[in-house]
Amino acid sequence: MLSATHIPVMLRESVSHLITDRGGNYIDATFGRGGHLKEILASISGTGSVYAFDRDPASKDQFEKAFPQDGRLSFSQAKFSDILAVMQTLNLVGKVSGMLIDCGVSSPQLEEASRGFSFKREGPLDMRMNPDEGFSAADWLNSADEKEISQIIWRLGEERLARRIARRIVATRPLETTIQLAGLVVKEYEFSGRKKSRVHPATKTFQAIRMHVNGELSELRSILLDGPKMLAIGGRIAVISFHSIEDREVKKSFQRLVVGTKLPRSIPILEEDKVASWRLIGKAVKPSIKETAVNPRSRTAVMRVIERAT
Ligand SMILES: C[S@@+](CC[C@H](N)C(=O)[O-])C[C@H]1O[C@@H](n2cnc3c(N)ncnc32)[C@H](O)[C@@H]1O
Repeated sequence: MLSATHIPVMLRESVSHLITDRGGNYIDATFGRGGHLKEILASISGTGSVYAFDRDPASKDQFEKAFPQDGRLSFSQAKFSDILAVMQTLNLVGKVSGMLIDCGVSSPQLEEASRGFSFKREGPLDMRMNPDEGFSAADWLNSADEKEISQIIWRLGEERLARRIARRIVATRPLETTIQLAGLVVKEYEFSGRKKSRVHPATKTFQAIRMHVNGELSELRSILLDGPKMLAIGGRIAVISFHSIEDREVKKSFQRLVVGTKLPRSIPILEEDKVASWRLIGKAVKPSIKETAVNPRSRTAVMRVIERAT
């Protein structure tokens, strides 16, 4: 059961940047708890529609509870890399006015101990957004070799003690719980003699393992490639990311579109897509000081928006 609430990040800014046609088709690629979705629905007209997606089965239950009967709305439990196929089935490729991607995990996912995302709550070491798919954090940590674990923690967590943490993981396994993993990282920090910081020592390690287990970077790359193919002229993509690694991907892919790299031809696209051109809408947007004070989770958020010009 999910219980915690989720405060949507840069709610007004993101939705006002997203909606250019009140009667258009919109995609909320990261339904979560529907915070952004609610605002999108309030901003479109009766003829608009929203296609909401989330890979987490718990989101489906949440959707059914929170949005019982709005004919403008539909939900599919699907991940980023499946969205294009769904939109093709609906014959909506090239007809989307806006797509919102709010990366990462939601507060309810983080706070539900049984999901295994939190270093503060005792739970099974799982960390999958969709527990019915792929391998859990424990499966991976208990079988991967030390070098691979170290590389992932370094690359996706930018954790300086990655090698030492990986060595300790391999020496301690099998690992079964979140607190076991968090405790082991804390110990490694103590041994290293590093100064204590405000941030919990296991933050980066957990982030890296979560990103790996969920293939978050490859999912993001996939939607950044597929998203533009779905847009109508004048349509926009807004991406909110929470880590510099993700923001770099978004920035790179938007720049590539703006300088005119052609779209891959692997899927059928509309005739006019062949001459698609793009423009950036403003610069990277960050949450206000007021927002970060109310919602510390928003501290690292960055939003970038691109528009299909032709
Ligand atoms: C930060 S939350 C979104 C919160 C939402 N905007 C709201 O206001 O309630 C991110 C959500 O995206 C989902 N998600 C993350 N990566 C995904 C992917 N590759 N495909 C589909 N859903 C994904 C997560 O399961 C999570 O529910």
